[in-house]
Amino acid sequence: MMNLFEFAAAQQEQDTRAHYDELCATIRRNNELYYAQAQPEISDAEYDRLYRELEELEAAHPEWVTPDSPTQRVGNDLSEGFRKVTHPAPMLSIDDIFEHKEGETDAELVEFYQRLQRSLEQDAPAVVVEPKIDGCAVTLLYRKGRLVYAATRGDGRTGDDITANVRTIRSVPFTLPVDAPELLEVRGEIYMPSADFDKLNEQRDADGLPTFANPRNATAGTIKLLDAAEVATRPLRFLAHGIGVYEGAPLHNADDYESLLKRMGIPCNQPILRAAGLADVRHAVQEIDSLRRSLGYGTDGAVIKLADFSLRESLGNTARAPRWAAAFKYLPEQKETILKGITIQVGRTGVLTPVAELEPVRLSGTTVSRATLHNQDEIARKDIRIGDTVLMEKSGEIIPAVVHVVTAKRPAEAVPYSLYDAVGGVCPCCGAPIMQEEGQVAWRCTNFTCSAQAAMRTTYFCKREALDIENLGGTVAEALVNRGMITSPLDLFRLTVEELGALNLGTNDEPRRFGEKNAAKAIAALEAARKLPLERWLTAFGIPTIGTVTARTVAKYHRDLQELAVGDFLTFLLELEQGVERFNSLNPKARSNKGADKEQLLVQQGELRGQLAETVAPYAARGYVKLEEDGSNKLKFTNPIGTVSCRNLRQYFQSAAGLMVQKTLAELNINPLSSGFEENFLTVQAGPLSGKTFVLTGALSRPRPEFEKMIAEAGGKATGTVTKKTDYLVAGEGGGSKRDKAVKLGIPIIGEADLLSMLSPS
Ligand code: IVH
Repeated sequence: MMNLFEFAAAQQEQDTRAHYDELCATIRRNNELYYAQAQPEISDAEYDRLYRELEELEAAHPEWVTPDSPTQRVGNDLSEGFRKVTHPAPMLSIDDIFEHKEGETDAELVEFYQRLQRSLEQDAPAVVVEPKIDGCAVTLLYRKGRLVYAATRGDGRTGDDITANVRTIRSVPFTLPVDAPELLEVRGEIYMPSADFDKLNEQRDADGLPTFANPRNATAGTIKLLDAAEVATRPLRFLAHGIGVYEGAPLHNADDYESLLKRMGIPCNQPILRAAGLADVRHAVQEIDSLRRSLGYGTDGAVIKLADFSLRESLGNTARAPRWAAAFKYLPEQKETILKGITIQVGRTGVLTPVAELEPVRLSGTTVSRATLHNQDEIARKDIRIGDTVLMEKSGEIIPAVVHVVTAKRPAEAVPYSLYDAVGGVCPCCGAPIMQEEGQVAWRCTNFTCSAQAAMRTTYFCKREALDIENLGGTVAEALVNRGMITSPLDLFRLTVEELGALNLGTNDEPRRFGEKNAAKAIAALEAARKLPLERWLTAFGIPTIGTVTARTVAKYHRDLQELAVGDFLTFLLELEQGVERFNSLNPKARSNKGADKEQLLVQQGELRGQLAETVAPYAARGYVKLEEDGSNKLKFTNPIGTVSCRNLRQYFQSAAGLMVQKTLAELNINPLSSGFEENFLTVQAGPLSGKTFVLTGALSRPRPEFEKMIAEAGGKATGTVTKKTDYLVAGEGGGSKRDKAVKLGIPIIGEADLLSMLSPS
């Protein structure tokens, strides 16, 4: 029997083990969010803290470590839709060493360098020290001077082939000079310069698209796009920092490699400092810290690498990282300040963003007085209250962020913050009610005529991929809104050439007229826009998630705007999706379900399967949607429009703004027609003749249109000519040429009675 103390110790061991497992799971989940989905939920610093804790637990309990532990593997960025590439040499991670707040702040750096000294038995092993670029790892394989492929790190052994996307990065050469080595694998980083990142986010905000959290995120999201044309519009860059496999004139060290890259015209990470001896290394690390802020892109440390290639080889790698390199992570500069208030910005897409108004504070080289608080969830999670003392840092040295609240310094009267209450439930800009979309954290003003959004919506409405209204760019839209000539894009259709020509684009003191000539062009373009297809109009509405591509998809399934606004097909898709989810959740195979329960579940599934199959039949027959069942009692259905887009469309057309749009368009006599509508879609009903094509010929007992109607009502189709696609020829007396053709093509010829019995099978 255990005594109480032994019991307590065992209990504690068990708790620590549980904590260890939980920590592994948390880190794995965040790896997935960071690498594969490009949507991290925690800050890099928080991640580092968790990782460090895991390392400490493993040091105390080496028996717990399995090859599956996050410390034993690199992250995993593999995604669907890309060809896989097996790396000829593994793509590893780097071990982090951290700067500390107190004591010997660079103790871990010293330890790393001393380890190099010991294992190489050298006093001053030569190293290179360079910025650690906060981007996405990529490898470029050149054979005989030609780019064979570009790939992501993936799980370190296998990566995603992203050649098409990398080809859009101008600084990455496709071919190398004639003296290129036989084989050269360049490892490097794809990243986005900070200024370009800001511009991209501004544009996305204006276009009604979600913005990226930071440049690394934007990069990760971009290199995994399946549309290289879209990638080409994103400001990506590349810098080399390492080497994979190589065949060519010998390379002895980092210097040789750097000059090879220079000769090959491959952009190389800069600056690369040389150092030998501890004092020198410390100095170089400090030097990089002071230089890195002016690089124009995010860096999250300095990488220290042994310079000599044969020494690198002698030290080798662990499963996860080389022993000859380390990444020194600088402590982000942090300072406390007071949160004086929270203001609410209404974005050009109607999103309400809370912004911290701070007592100004110097941080990493600039004065910070405002910082985005992102959304209500973020405020609640950190329990940020007005009057609080908050700890600030710049994430990635760029974007100011609240790390946490210093609760000890909280004023007694501080109360939890509610964005909704702070604005009294209405948009601070126009006073219309705000709402939170299902599944989204952001509060939005839904008013189509909200003045904060009018200029943006109008600019968007007139863009080339939307309605392409010549001469109506951002400046003109701003002026039209500011001068009270329009409150929503549709008001444009009520403007005359005279009114628009007289628009003052300058100031009251220095007026500048838009001019009749420009106005005439714009009005002509507006006139032409009336006839533009549904997909262009849909894009123009700027509905969240409905860009040009989705708009085109939606238009495949809807004849015109009115049909889309009614939304039957959207409802069908969403209901089908729900049905499938319910079906899959029944799961009779689950171990917890026994005997009778199992049977009942099977019966329920059977019924549901029948219902779903019937609902889906008319669409499935034409390949619009596919409902599949795998071997293990699971149904698979892929919504061709996408769940979120279906919901957004429905919400839009049911909202006050959407109803207003429909009403105004009706008044203006505009009903955009789909140009990509798939004929026969939705017109065909489900029934015994679903998917079958008939041709009628000869003398029948009733007029032909009557038969045609009966066929259509039973889900079939009646056409005029016999082709290979005809399923049956229904022939009465006579019927010469069609009958001959059917015989020739081997198409079954049936009589009126056969048709009638097919119509009502008993
Ligand atoms: S050297 C075996 N140098 O950081 C890895 N890596 O966290 C040797 N990184 O996978 C790589 N800047 O993608 C090196 N100057 C730099 C770097 C750098 C960024 C990335 C690299 C690596 C990751 C590890």
